[in-house]
Amino acid sequence: MTVATAPTRSVSEQVRDLLARMTLEEKIGQLQMVQGGGGHVPDHLRDAVQDGRIGSVLNETNVEAVNSLQWIATKQSRLGIPLLVGRDVIHGFKTVFPIPLGQAATWNPALVERGARIAALEAARTGVNWTFAPMLDIGRDPRWGRVAEGFGEDPFLTGVMGAASVRGYQGDDLSAPGSIAACAKHFAGYGASESGRDYNTTNIPENELRNVHLPPFHAAVEAGAASVMTSFSDIDGIPATANRFLLRTVLREEWAFDGVVVSDWESIRQLATHGLTAGDRDSALEAAQAGVDIEMASTAYADHLADLVCEGLVPLATLDALVENILTMKFRLGLFEQPFTEPSAFPQQCNSAHLAAARDAATESLVLLKNVPGMLPLSFAHTPHVAVIGPLADEAHEQLGTWIFDGDTQHCVHVLDAIRALAAASPAADVRVTHARGLATTRSTDHALIAEAARVASEADVVVLVAGEEAILSGEAHCRADITLPGAQEALITALAETGKPIVLVLMAGRALALERVLPKVHALLYAWHPGTMGGPAIADVLFGVREPSGRLPVSLPRVPGQVPIYYAHKNTGKPATPETIVHMNDIPARAAQLSVGNTSFHLDVHPSPLFAFGSGLSYSQVGYSDLRADATELSRDAALEIRVDVTNTGPRDAHEVVQLYLRDPVASVTRPVRELKAFQKILLHPGERRTVAFTLHASDLAFYGRAMRRQAEPGRFHVWVGGSADADLRLDFTLVD
Ligand code: BGC
Repeated sequence: MTVATAPTRSVSEQVRDLLARMTLEEKIGQLQMVQGGGGHVPDHLRDAVQDGRIGSVLNETNVEAVNSLQWIATKQSRLGIPLLVGRDVIHGFKTVFPIPLGQAATWNPALVERGARIAALEAARTGVNWTFAPMLDIGRDPRWGRVAEGFGEDPFLTGVMGAASVRGYQGDDLSAPGSIAACAKHFAGYGASESGRDYNTTNIPENELRNVHLPPFHAAVEAGAASVMTSFSDIDGIPATANRFLLRTVLREEWAFDGVVVSDWESIRQLATHGLTAGDRDSALEAAQAGVDIEMASTAYADHLADLVCEGLVPLATLDALVENILTMKFRLGLFEQPFTEPSAFPQQCNSAHLAAARDAATESLVLLKNVPGMLPLSFAHTPHVAVIGPLADEAHEQLGTWIFDGDTQHCVHVLDAIRALAAASPAADVRVTHARGLATTRSTDHALIAEAARVASEADVVVLVAGEEAILSGEAHCRADITLPGAQEALITALAETGKPIVLVLMAGRALALERVLPKVHALLYAWHPGTMGGPAIADVLFGVREPSGRLPVSLPRVPGQVPIYYAHKNTGKPATPETIVHMNDIPARAAQLSVGNTSFHLDVHPSPLFAFGSGLSYSQVGYSDLRADATELSRDAALEIRVDVTNTGPRDAHEVVQLYLRDPVASVTRPVRELKAFQKILLHPGERRTVAFTLHASDLAFYGRAMRRQAEPGRFHVWVGGSADADLRLDFTLVD
């Protein structure tokens, strides 16, 4: 006898069936996201969920409260529709990984994916099923506090890391336990906020929007991102939350995105504050027409959409499409089958494997930028007395960085303790680790503690100075105009330098800082971003050569604040600066005549290059590049071009090299950047090892949005550079032929 099984209905059939049974109020309820009750379910929330007036909550991470909410939603509401439970799980949950900018510095997407996976597992244990990450805004202005949350200045690197993080959060199967929905944010252009002031206006021509700001979002959508969040910002006169071009033309039509679009916090209501609408009613109309599915926090939809539908201003079909997207995401997440969370089904948070992964990510995020020969790695045998100084040396909380609502400081190991642990394990004689703070905080202008720090330094063999910015100086709404070291840190460095002791500066920061004044005073510089829970051991391991430094800059470091925005993929301009034309103002004779010919593009008071180039970073070895070659001089549209280069470790230690390929289209229908990153590989080379690294280029890698605003490669000559940073000088040319 054969048993007939009920045919499994597709998600879209189930969605349509459910939609057909929903009242207007229940449909609008699905569009509403509200704040959770903070560990319990207040009466108003229970009633709203029970009545079907709420489709999602955010910021509830108490699993009992989440399960109660899901119980009310699925067992006590008329249609039993489960809730989305959102949270900003940005760079870890309890186990905190480096800030995303630091994760980008690993140039290792596998680590980013693993970090997101662990974050998802730890968050899912509390019932969270949706994270508002990754942030894919291009960060070219380090004054903007949210550069910490993104993957840096480059569209390609941001896209690679964004896709890796989507894969990590969502896994192969969104409905599997431990998978949570990702959210690519903030769509779009938010990183270009004027003057780096958060929430500010952005002015982005469509060509730049499409070539620079949108590609990472497209990569995330291609990787299957379940949702997209609109930006707070105004772009070309239409705030992103009402921007039909962005949300309908690009996202839905061109990219065929079929996930959920969520507003940012009250960004529908803010359409009126922007001056686009007269109030909530018009804002609801604009956002619905643009295709925003979920309203976060404000209640313009809840208050006005029913009327707008009844009056025919929002067609029912438009509303149904919004609801369908939300229900589809709930089905895809498997919430109808399993709305409840059993914490014991998930691994413990902050377990040893999670901490080890955080340590790996932190280790690879560290970028060694300066190392006077013989300085690093340190060894207790040579410098037995180490003075660990600075306002961030023993600050477990600060090293976690921005957006760590749920971060666990209990497991966090700071630099001082980690160096003490290495010292305790060292067989060397007379090992001593001393400590002085130097400044109460990174912002402190009180010099009172500096003399004591200098005294401690003067007694040591080497100074490890852990300085930079506390976590609160970057992140949302935490922007700075003067991106040099805050407070009296430069005075502290000067006082330490005057002791004559070698200084190793470990810099924790949520952004690129302008370090021109500081750099000559230190012997080594390790850029550590905010490295997360295991930042201390990771830093100690690299300083003492237990692990090799292998991070590379995901942003250009400016010399002085006035240089920003400064990024490698700039346009050439009609008057590019050349070594012959650059002049410093101090070299201009008094009363010199100002000419209008022969001038080029640079500032009179600073060299036009960054202090450190995008992609740069040292190892403890030396790596050389040679024999850049291609398997043809021409590439046709349907073929591939193989580019090879030999990379050799000529130094005495292992080297993790990030081999980077840059491209330039020197003549095109629109002006193109002087270089663009197109591919990279992170490889390990043992001492003396030579490896041939191969990259395959297709015409699609050469494509961009040209004059006709269509993405395509234009025939002609291309330059390719391969090397260890955006300054790579090994070049070959090839021609794209039709
Ligand atoms: C931020 C978003 C975040 C949301 C929810 C907003 O202020 O811009 O990135 O996801 O709050 O916390």
